[in-house]
Amino acid sequence: MDKKRILEGLIENYRLNHKKSEELFEKACQYQIRGGSHNLRLFDPFPFYVVECCGSKVRDADGNTYIDFWQGHFANVLGHNPKIVLDSLFDYLKRGQGLTTGFPDSRQGELAELILKQIEADKIRFTTSGTLATMYAVMLAKAFTKRSLLMKVGGGWHGAQPYVLKGIYTYDQGLNQLESAGLPSGINRTIIVTRFNDNKDLEEKFRNYGDQIACFIVEPFIGAGGFIFAQREYLQKARNLTLQYNSLLIFDEVISGFRFHPGGVQNLYGIKPDLTVLGKAIGGGMPVSAVAGREDVMSLCSPDAKAEDRVRFDGGTFSAHPASMLAGVDYIRYIISHSSEIYPRIGQLGAKVRKEIEEIFAVHGFHVKCTGYGNSITKYSSLVGVQFLHDKIDRITYPEQVWNPEVCEVEMREKIFKLAMLEQGFNIFHGYGAISASHTEKEIQASLDAVERIAKRWRKYNIPEM
Ligand SMILES: Cc1ncc(COP(=O)(O)O)c(C=O)c1O
Repeated sequence: MDKKRILEGLIENYRLNHKKSEELFEKACQYQIRGGSHNLRLFDPFPFYVVECCGSKVRDADGNTYIDFWQGHFANVLGHNPKIVLDSLFDYLKRGQGLTTGFPDSRQGELAELILKQIEADKIRFTTSGTLATMYAVMLAKAFTKRSLLMKVGGGWHGAQPYVLKGIYTYDQGLNQLESAGLPSGINRTIIVTRFNDNKDLEEKFRNYGDQIACFIVEPFIGAGGFIFAQREYLQKARNLTLQYNSLLIFDEVISGFRFHPGGVQNLYGIKPDLTVLGKAIGGGMPVSAVAGREDVMSLCSPDAKAEDRVRFDGGTFSAHPASMLAGVDYIRYIISHSSEIYPRIGQLGAKVRKEIEEIFAVHGFHVKCTGYGNSITKYSSLVGVQFLHDKIDRITYPEQVWNPEVCEVEMREKIFKLAMLEQGFNIFHGYGAISASHTEKEIQASLDAVERIAKRWRKYNIPEM
């Protein structure tokens, strides 16, 4: 029995248990490209269609229930549809309010104040997606510095916007290629890619391009690049070099903001960027993102800015949508006031899962190591990646390794293990995913029991051959 046969068996079983979802997918394909609007949600052979999501659980159209570790692209720190947010939204809508109005309201100011206090920045402006927010942050940096180059790390995902679509997933002796067609001509030359957590490479790139670099954008906890924390020394080096070369430092905390504590990794490390991008968790399940940072940089999006410096981060129809602001305020308030219970608990569950998954696979003869480990400062990591490694590799520490087929089995992580865990009643992503406050200890243990059953079965089949 080889991996191909295992995958075929899993797909066959998945099809049997998801007949309604398959019908829905086929119908969706008649109208939408590949049946949907977000490629990550459209896994093979077809996604299951949810009818209900509550706390840790999701139920699909065929009546299957899963414990979910995808949790809204890792946004749902409190689990799906938390009552605290739903209650206020219900109340709001019942009063005939909550839909878009095109007017500012007081909640915008409340959410702005709450977030700025937590991350210790001067000014903030909201928009609707992390993608837009990183785009505006880069435009602000380019306008402020009057420079044209952007530096990012290989494996860094900042959304599908033209300034950053290079060096993400496509591995070819490194991560250094443009990853989309249709980009502005010449964009390739304007994006410099450096290695995550590599001080020497960062120094070298600044030495070579520093006086042309408008900004260095980096995730203090890299998400798509493998669930790895930036080392404090690395971010400090980035801070020092950006200051030395008069470039701006942008922290993309779309994943890490409010995921490990009620603020950013920047606050834990005590390193202040010029701009911060936030998204995911700050909306309490509604579409909210933000750019926050230095007043002199942020003020370039003001209509009062000099015409030649002005950045048209003007806002869109749904910017600071009333229901999104309400959800964000209630959610962030709740998270702040319950932070001493939430973060240590989900962080400790994360630590247990990482440790035990490694042990389980080791007992059954597999070389599997987790990512998502915190350090002495970022103690409470609730994110878990599972990496099926080739023999000579000790552990994954760079994003390049995560997508390099000579280092790890990408198909095992993203496809085979995913379908195997679904069969056991668990929806995972990147090998496991995000633990939320709604997951119980029992559910976490059940997920580990499922991993054990899978490892046992695979051992019998003698896969994977790594
Ligand atoms: C670090 C990071 N930045 C930006 C984005 C883009 O955010 P959005 O999907 O809300 O556009 C993502 C999305 O996953 C992300 O992980």
